[in-house]
Amino acid sequence: MKIAVVREQADGERRVAATPETVRKFVALGATVAVEAGAGVAASFADAAYTEAGAAVGDRAATLAGADIVLGVQGPDPASLGGIAPGAWLVAGLNPFGERARVDAYAAAGVEALAMELMPRITRAQSMDILSSQSNLSGYKAVLDAAAEYGRAFPMMMTAAGTVSAAKVFVMGVGVAGLQAIATARRLGAQVSATDVRSATREQILSLGAKPIFVEGVVGIEGEGSGGYAGEMSPEYQAAQAELVSNHLAKQDIVITTALIPGRPAPRLISDAQLQTMRPGSVVVDLAVEQGGNVEGAIAGEVVERHGVRIVGHRNVPSRLAADASALFARNLYNFLSTFWDKQAGRPVLDEEIGDAIRLTKDGEVVNPRLVAG
Ligand code: NAI
Repeated sequence: MKIAVVREQADGERRVAATPETVRKFVALGATVAVEAGAGVAASFADAAYTEAGAAVGDRAATLAGADIVLGVQGPDPASLGGIAPGAWLVAGLNPFGERARVDAYAAAGVEALAMELMPRITRAQSMDILSSQSNLSGYKAVLDAAAEYGRAFPMMMTAAGTVSAAKVFVMGVGVAGLQAIATARRLGAQVSATDVRSATREQILSLGAKPIFVEGVVGIEGEGSGGYAGEMSPEYQAAQAELVSNHLAKQDIVITTALIPGRPAPRLISDAQLQTMRPGSVVVDLAVEQGGNVEGAIAGEVVERHGVRIVGHRNVPSRLAADASALFARNLYNFLSTFWDKQAGRPVLDEEIGDAIRLTKDGEVVNPRLVAG
């Protein structure tokens, strides 16, 4: 069983799918590990550290030659996978809805592509969940990015020269990223409020010492969407939410938006007219910018100014914390493969529940029901 770790090819991607720690663990399972030279450099893991952990470090061709499992952070170019074993697994974040043509190419290349972001949200798969591990870091970094753009301080300070008032931070979307954003902003001394469409988040917001801002008296989605995710809201709810948020937004200094709906464009939460009501110097960080954006005027990969408000739209926020993001991502992949490791077969064997959820391609076909249905 040969596991290959490739160097990421996407622009600006600094993460790596295995660390010296996980290489050591794969070797202990009985696997051979090959790492493409320089794969970990941008995440502060030197080639020598991989060699010391028991990996063979070499060029891409040598790394992929005869590989049974290829690990990546993002999906590699299908044309760059020459030399891997027939039916080899590709285990990575494969963005299957955004990169549909690539999925077809993996099928044509005979690769069994496993999209880690489709991992079901069940208790036993929590340690394998790349969305959670990466979103948590994004939520943290979003607050630091906001603080860096903000020309004022976060905490209240009483000084001889007078008092500096605490920044007001509003977090929209209280999933994994939003919860971490609340906790981080609180630690920096901000006054924090937050909102979500899932009423279950109210208690979580309170427990972090923040103020919940919720639409009352309109039927929400108490049942939630599937797997703990949000669904799309009724027009009545959206109108009530817009009014409530408008009143609140005008009083905020920092807004962090994280709202996503799986398989759909991100919901629009802040309009240009609402931005106009905010104080000059306010900062809005849109973590959903790559999924269409929660904020009107946000541009992926840019920091733009509208009506005196800075709108931060960094791409690939986890990559901005590449060392920790890689360490957690790599452990997610190790937890996944080791959980299913069949000692007799000397390789992982997936069960139906998880295998069927994440498998995109097999035996030359696209097989995932979410891609073939409709
Ligand atoms: P996400 O990244 O899909 O969405 C972020 C947040 O935006 C969610 O809380 C969602 O409800 C909210 N949202 C969507 N539309 C909105 C709107 N119009 N206005 C305001 N907020 C809106 O969600 P994420 O972070 O992936 O987590 C979703 C849930 O799944 C959480 O409850 C989390 O605890 C749970 N979860 C469970 C796991 C497991 O059991 N294995 C693993 C990870 C998360």
